[in-house]
Amino acid sequence: MTISANISLKPYNTFGIDAEAKFFTSIQSIQNIQELLQSHEYKSNERLILGGGSNLLLTKNVDALVIKNDLKGIEIVKETTDSVFVKCAAGEVWHEFVMWSIQQNFGGLENLSLIPGCTGASPMQNIGAYGVEIKDTFYELEAIHTQTGEQKTFSKSECEFGYRESVFKRKFKNQFIITSVTFQLSKAPTFHIEYGAIKQELDAMKISDLSLKAISQAVINIRSSKLPNPKEIGNAGSFFKNPEVTASVYERLKNEFPNLVAYPLENLNYKLAAGWLIEQSGLKGYRLGDAGVHKLQALVLVNYGNATGNEIYNLSTHVLQTVKAKFGVDLEREVNII
Ligand code: FAD
Ligand code: EPU
Repeated sequence: MTISANISLKPYNTFGIDAEAKFFTSIQSIQNIQELLQSHEYKSNERLILGGGSNLLLTKNVDALVIKNDLKGIEIVKETTDSVFVKCAAGEVWHEFVMWSIQQNFGGLENLSLIPGCTGASPMQNIGAYGVEIKDTFYELEAIHTQTGEQKTFSKSECEFGYRESVFKRKFKNQFIITSVTFQLSKAPTFHIEYGAIKQELDAMKISDLSLKAISQAVINIRSSKLPNPKEIGNAGSFFKNPEVTASVYERLKNEFPNLVAYPLENLNYKLAAGWLIEQSGLKGYRLGDAGVHKLQALVLVNYGNATGNEIYNLSTHVLQTVKAKFGVDLEREVNII
């Protein structure tokens, strides 16, 4: 295990921000982690765990030891008549894991195709797309405490999953290195095609025999049509969450803006489409230097080349203020600000 100093993080974050890590190392085994915990650099610095860097914005040099999680391995740990329990190491690339599950004909992850990043980060914000979240197939995860080095297994309820939320973003922030995640996948899959865009895309693809592969391809097609590819243009996906408002706020807005895009929730509140709010605030395609609001998906902020993390952050503040002034609604950032 090597610990290097003053490493550029530009290749390690999908916004392509050129910030430096004070120290940088890669972990490839549990033994590596235990060794790392004993090192001087670990004990005398703050730490930042890094997966694919696709959900962070680096606003400054990182005065910490950056630990790139490169733990690999996919293993079937248990099988029942209906399910397989698959343990995936934290450093596995999420989309590759999803493709593997589809090849095996194990159902449950297909709607989550093409989400960037690593499996170890997937529970952090309970990643979700097209009507499915990882909490739907999550079984348990293993993690190592950053102070004591103790290994702990978290059940689904202990993770306190919510919309783009978990205990690891809140009370256990920076306290655990997630080393593996186990999913309960289905041998006889039920398909989730309730999300309007998926049905339309499957029709356009002229799919008659529904399959995990077809759903995955439909999701890939939809995503590729509107989300910018970080290899071509820096971004971290949705920069803000879709805000939840009470029924009375929803009624007020609906009266004033009849085209408001909103979805009713079980708790009788409504979720608003933040992308719509931003677009209607006149900001879709807006650009401040190299920081911009994406032309096709206003919920995504982009780096056209040499934007700094602070420039993107300032743009996000401008978006928050503009939406608040027009609609009286507070947006919340989804991306982790470092
Ligand atoms: P990183 O960005 O490396 O880390 C994110 C956070 O998790 C950081 O706070 C980091 O410290 C922490 N962390 C990472 N790994 C570990 C670990 N092993 N242990 C402890 N802490 C850890 N998200 C969705 O939910 N749905 C989408 O549809 C979606 N679409 C996206 C589309 C694009 C084009 C992009 C760029 C991003 C999108 N995202 C989406 C966001 C992002 O892909 C996910 O949040 C993903 O899970 C982040 O994984 P990562 O490995 O890149 O995490
Ligand atoms: N919309 C606009 N203008 C825009 C963007 C969106 O009017 O510029 C409206 C459209 O009416 C559209 C609706 O908003 O029908 C919803 O848009 P979309 O289906 O693109 O989804 P989203 O709500 O913008 C969410 C997630 C995505 C996830 C998709 C698909 C959040 C914060 N974002 O986006 O997740 O992939 O749904 O399920 O919940 C991410 O978290 O990084 C991410 C990309």
